[in-house]
Amino acid sequence: MTAPNPGANRPGNNLENRPDDWWKSAVVYQIYPRSFCDSNGDGIGDIRGIISRLDHLAALGVDAVWLSPAYTSPQDDNGYDISDYQDIDPLFGSLADLDELVDGLHSRGMKLVMDLVVNHTSDEHPWFQESRDRSSAKADWYWWADAREGFEPGTPGAEPTNWASAFSGPAWHYDEQRGQYYLHLFSRKQPDLNWENPEVRQAVYDMMRWWVDRGVDGFRMDVINLISKQLPLEDGTTVPGQALSFNGSYVDGPRMDEFLHEMNQQVLSGQNLLTVGECPGVSVEQASKYTDPEREELGMVFQFEHMGLDEQQGRGKWALKPLHLPDLKANLAKWQHGLEGRGWNSLYWDNHDQPRIVSRWGDDSPEHRVNSAKTLATVLHLQKGTPYVYQGEELGMTNAGFTSIEQYRDIEILNHWAEATALGADPAELLESYRVKGRDNARTPVQWDASDKAGFTTGEPWIEINPNHTQINAEAAVADPDSVFHHYRQLIALRHELEVVRDGVFALLEPDHEQLFAYTRSLEDEALLVLANMSSTECQLPTDLRQDGELLLGTHAERADDRLAPWESRIIRLS
Ligand code: NOJ
Repeated sequence: MTAPNPGANRPGNNLENRPDDWWKSAVVYQIYPRSFCDSNGDGIGDIRGIISRLDHLAALGVDAVWLSPAYTSPQDDNGYDISDYQDIDPLFGSLADLDELVDGLHSRGMKLVMDLVVNHTSDEHPWFQESRDRSSAKADWYWWADAREGFEPGTPGAEPTNWASAFSGPAWHYDEQRGQYYLHLFSRKQPDLNWENPEVRQAVYDMMRWWVDRGVDGFRMDVINLISKQLPLEDGTTVPGQALSFNGSYVDGPRMDEFLHEMNQQVLSGQNLLTVGECPGVSVEQASKYTDPEREELGMVFQFEHMGLDEQQGRGKWALKPLHLPDLKANLAKWQHGLEGRGWNSLYWDNHDQPRIVSRWGDDSPEHRVNSAKTLATVLHLQKGTPYVYQGEELGMTNAGFTSIEQYRDIEILNHWAEATALGADPAELLESYRVKGRDNARTPVQWDASDKAGFTTGEPWIEINPNHTQINAEAAVADPDSVFHHYRQLIALRHELEVVRDGVFALLEPDHEQLFAYTRSLEDEALLVLANMSSTECQLPTDLRQDGELLLGTHAERADDRLAPWESRIIRLS
């Protein structure tokens, strides 16, 4: 049964506000509601807090907001475990607040993209509760299986397959009530939906239509390329901690194109929505299929290859290694070429699952933080695709700097710590990995001003505020014309103004250079040259790159012809 929808058909919520392909010239701003702004002093961000900051987004010039889940949820994974898809969690507000957010964005010319988490629900969702009864109408809505043959249910090794959960331990949990195991690729409280069942698919499409009627302008689809499992479910080559990218049993499974096309026909078609599918482990070939307009599946995908370049291959995200710039350039260029003329790229450095880019691949020392944040932004935003800005990235916010396990809140880290320390791992090494790569780096509160609670809350924040908010904050950044904020604002404006930024063909220069990231974008007789020194030392320019075209945007007021200062970048229009 579809829930009543009094919020539907309010003024301004119609197709007329969504021109064809609007998302191809758009810049999207991601909000993680828990950490954005708290309006009621409970220490947790909420929708009214977001509404109070909409002018910040309008000043930045972004076109759309992607809102991480604010639906009803037990909050096992901060809202990525949903128990009611058609309501807002009281922690974050109400449906009326959400309607007001949609109206507030629309009246400022911005759009709202909802997070769609349908690979799994919460175990507290009524669908799952019903499914625990073998004789119920929903008995087959999740992945249920008996213990491995010859094993006593609930004993080690009895799980139906050897798959690992992305959050440590096996991907199966034994349910006493049903007397069977259920599959959960993420936490035990996130059981996977069975997309083979047409009733499950219809229920998801009904729910999506309900949100479109309510005025939302698109969906970011959580781990969408895991919804089709290879049948029968069998042992894979999964190693703990590598569940996603290493198990062919459920990444880009056999019915993916069919499911996405069906969703497209039933919900998306003719609506001009922004759709972006989060696709861990996706290859460029597969992504070009998912995003080929002729196949009518998705607008774009989030791929992960560049995010894995600072980990030791095959050893999972906690096995750190330094980034080698030529690897990054080669990878991004591969995606630019791979989707050229067919699909569409999404461009991102940061999101709620990644450490902060200025600390990760920039230099967050006081000397270089501002220029490295600007230069990283430049090399990303001048590529072809739709750029995503994660809250606080536009301020050059840095990693959290946590040094003890008590400071962390993330289920991924807490589960990993429990498992790894029990197996005898070195706690200091674990803490170092979490400090560098942990998801909580992105989840400390947005730093609005220099006051005690950073303008985020009047209460006790759910996770520590970075002490550097006294220097790094929105109030200071907006007031300073040379700030990271104004650099992002200008990059966004350039995308809106210049067709070549939206449509130009990308060509990488100097692929092996270890400091320089250089490329051109060309469209008919227009061409741009991007030059970026991605290091904290000076960089000599190769002779053929000493160009004197019109400087559209740069990081430094004083410029030498033959070299770039540390973290200097320039966007030049070639004549
Ligand atoms: C990907 C989301 O981005 C992440 O935050 C979440 O933990 C998993 N999917 C599970 O929903």
